[in-house]
Amino acid sequence: MTDSFNPGNRLIVALDVATRRRADDLINRLGDAVSWLKIGLELFVAEGPSIVRHYIQQNYRIMLDLKLHDIPATVEQASRRVANLGAELLTVHAGGGRAMLEAAVRGAESTSQLRILAVTALTSLDQSDLAEVGIAATMDDLVLGRARLAVTAGCHGVVASPREATRLRAAIPDRFLLVTPGVRPRGSHADDQKRVMTPEQARAAGADLIVCGRPIRDATDPAASARAIIAELAASK
Ligand code: C5P
Repeated sequence: MTDSFNPGNRLIVALDVATRRRADDLINRLGDAVSWLKIGLELFVAEGPSIVRHYIQQNYRIMLDLKLHDIPATVEQASRRVANLGAELLTVHAGGGRAMLEAAVRGAESTSQLRILAVTALTSLDQSDLAEVGIAATMDDLVLGRARLAVTAGCHGVVASPREATRLRAAIPDRFLLVTPGVRPRGSHADDQKRVMTPEQARAAGADLIVCGRPIRDATDPAASARAIIAELAASK
């Protein structure tokens, strides 16, 4: 694994659509404005691994957001398959434990381009949800503890909400990637995201890459929306 990660223009567009046709439509409207795409469970389950190859062949960089959580041997093999597909970022749940995270990293090491991002805690959970699944820690401590685990297990980064970005950035090494969804350009709708930051704020809080979906997908001019975010990211920090 080389240390030099090039974040490109720092914007990852979430392809939150159900079919390749819809994804292609969005990408055609984006033109050459973006370089990073996030493929999540819906599109991956609907279209299979060929959707990843399809966009890599078109020179896009891929974050595969599968949030893997299984026994280490299974995650290692899945990670190896993702590495062979050519994706550059793969998400796994930090809650799967050290051995699982190390296995994901081993799988990624079968190629030089794949990096493992740990999801610390789903942003859909609150403190009472944690208690219900037997976790007594506060959400802040859980997120920080899992981020530290991800670092020592050899992962390459974490996915975190903008709310957590500043605190995490101070606690993790500079080279460790911080990827932040929940980002909204100034003046756009928050949708169901409860705590949003502008791209500029997320970058200032230490995000290396930001994930943005609906504000681009649902814009009248998605390319203009993406370009405005990229310009904001380039200007900040
Ligand atoms: O449309 P929006 O910009 O809110 O999309 C954000 C994307 O990031 C979605 O694909 C969502 O699933 C994902 N995500 C998130 N919060 C997390 C992890 C992933 O919003 N903690």
